[in-house]
Amino acid sequence: MTEGQTTATSPTGATTYADQRGRSNELFAQAATLAPAGVHHNLRSAAPFPLFYERGEGPYKWDADGNRYLCYAMGQGSQILGYSPPAVVEAVRKHAAFGIPGGSHALEIEWARLVGELIPSAERTRFLASGTEATMLALRLARAHTGRSTVVRVQGHYNGWHDYGLIGYRAPFDEAATAGIPDEVLATVRTIRSDLSPSELEEVFAGEDVAAVILEPSGASWGTVPLPSHFLASLRDATSRHGTVLIFDEVITAFRWAPGGIQSLTGITPDLTSLGKILTGGLPGGAVAGAAEILDLLRPDKSPREGYVLHHGTFNGHPVPAAAGIATLTGAASGEAQQAADGHVAALRAGLQEIVESLSIAGFAYGDSSVFHLYLQSPDGEVVGDVSPETMTTERYLAMPRSLIAALHREVRSRGVDLFSYNGGMASGAHGDAELELALSAFDGALRALVQTGVVATA
Ligand SMILES: Cc1ncc(COP(=O)(O)O)c(C=O)c1O
Repeated sequence: MTEGQTTATSPTGATTYADQRGRSNELFAQAATLAPAGVHHNLRSAAPFPLFYERGEGPYKWDADGNRYLCYAMGQGSQILGYSPPAVVEAVRKHAAFGIPGGSHALEIEWARLVGELIPSAERTRFLASGTEATMLALRLARAHTGRSTVVRVQGHYNGWHDYGLIGYRAPFDEAATAGIPDEVLATVRTIRSDLSPSELEEVFAGEDVAAVILEPSGASWGTVPLPSHFLASLRDATSRHGTVLIFDEVITAFRWAPGGIQSLTGITPDLTSLGKILTGGLPGGAVAGAAEILDLLRPDKSPREGYVLHHGTFNGHPVPAAAGIATLTGAASGEAQQAADGHVAALRAGLQEIVESLSIAGFAYGDSSVFHLYLQSPDGEVVGDVSPETMTTERYLAMPRSLIAALHREVRSRGVDLFSYNGGMASGAHGDAELELALSAFDGALRALVQTGVVATA
């Protein structure tokens, strides 16, 4: 198969899918003997096997068999300028020879200055090695600042995979989503629904025992379950009144929803912000940014009694991600890439909705900014009924069967389009009109196949 071709497919996509991806299948067989399930991130597992990718350029990526995909995963959301933007590639090339990880260097200053210019809450910035580390440090800072232990998380929101992040991530929300979390840790995390009223939110913090509340300001998993319009302002009010640190986890939304993230769009400024993904141009890294009064607890001239927060990390502020991050944030600062991505996805959502309606599918397309979600139901599911983005709840969203989601991924992949996790994706500034046509044609074919095979419910 040559570059640019998409694959032919049977109505279910099941036979030709594997045939046309023989090299990925071989690589998976090798990987599976070396790594658990052959992958290094649990969501990368895919049926019948995960694809192994070789390169990306603009809105496209190529797998090990040379198949090209129009990508809506975009490096798990990290590529707002498209894959391999020349300025980022050049910055990485130039600094690859800078062989001094683990020491201070001038790029850190330029990088932190850019973060401070773009992100409204960023009076100070501390770089670290991943988005998960960013949320973990933000929570420790909040506990040190307040002298309180309890952390509030919003049910269904993803804030990284550390112990605190995986309590309240999946139903049942009062249990940990993973084995290995001590009961003592569980006792320090309280979870709340995302549809609480202002007075209910007030009650959560009124006891003045909560160190921090952390959430995705887009709503769970980049807006799959949108927040009520009052939610962020109500949280800001209640947390300010009761001395709780408000943490916006903008690992996905910063530099995507707008160069300054959701906080710049809403004018609601959190005390701390966790950052990652686009921050580093897609290389490993992250940051906590926020109020100087809180970030300065990291200063080693303090003692633990004064709230000193110990934080190390060999690769914090590594020069290569720093160089990629500077090039990316410089390219993303004007907002043009975000506007192009938003425009592309708005047209994609509208086109998807038309397809869904024309096939009488019991579902809908929705989303904010440059992301889209396609809510579908299975014919034998419990959730068929009157569901819309306004009435979406975390439980309804999470009740979408895994098998249906896997079938959607496989059918669109068979037609040369790759999604992000669950039932949606996100675009970059490199996604244009030609890609829109390609995507809609792939979704049309995929959804027809899912209706024909009885995987998706029709109204
Ligand atoms: C909102 C949010 N917070 C935190 C993280 C964790 O970031 P990382 O995967 O870099 O550890 C993610 C990752 O997808 C995320 O989406």
